[in-house]
Amino acid sequence: MASPICVYGNPVLREKSEPVKEVTAEIRALADRMLGIMYSQEGIGLAAEQIGHTEAIFVLDVPVSADKNDQGLPNNPGVKMPQTFINPEIIGESEETAVAEEGCLSFPKLYVPVERPAEVVLRFLDRDGNTQVLNARGLLARAIQHELDHLDGVLLVDHMTPAMKLKNALRLRGIKKWYKSRGY
Ligand code: NI
Repeated sequence: MASPICVYGNPVLREKSEPVKEVTAEIRALADRMLGIMYSQEGIGLAAEQIGHTEAIFVLDVPVSADKNDQGLPNNPGVKMPQTFINPEIIGESEETAVAEEGCLSFPKLYVPVERPAEVVLRFLDRDGNTQVLNARGLLARAIQHELDHLDGVLLVDHMTPAMKLKNALRLRGIKKWYKSRGY
């Protein structure tokens, strides 16, 4: 199946998301569609912009098996997955940072080391419209920050140093060409 995901070059990825005024059945349907598309592309997270929407929504399904600490214990025990995050906002973050490679469905086959706070506290609305607060570390904290970037129109390429961009210039140009040829 051809990827239904908007890729680098598509201007929608640079848009800033709009807060959701009310969590309606339509919003829940959009979140379900996002989850389905995310699974079809074997992603662990997806922001609304990546399917051409500007609502402030992202979805995540970070597997526990991929999110363990040095002792092999889950970083975020008890956090249910998948989850829908509506109007998400970071209300706290650690001074300690971590660096790890990130990929993005909008940048096929590109991996970029990104330094981010190791822990974050996220406030958001769940799919029932209830306010939730989530403390996250490890891969979940990273995924949250990556998807929040999308909602601000910030992309993986913005985390690349000039040297990294030069090294990956062909790949970046290739993705933009792909966008131009298929139109999304
Ligand atoms: Ni992404």
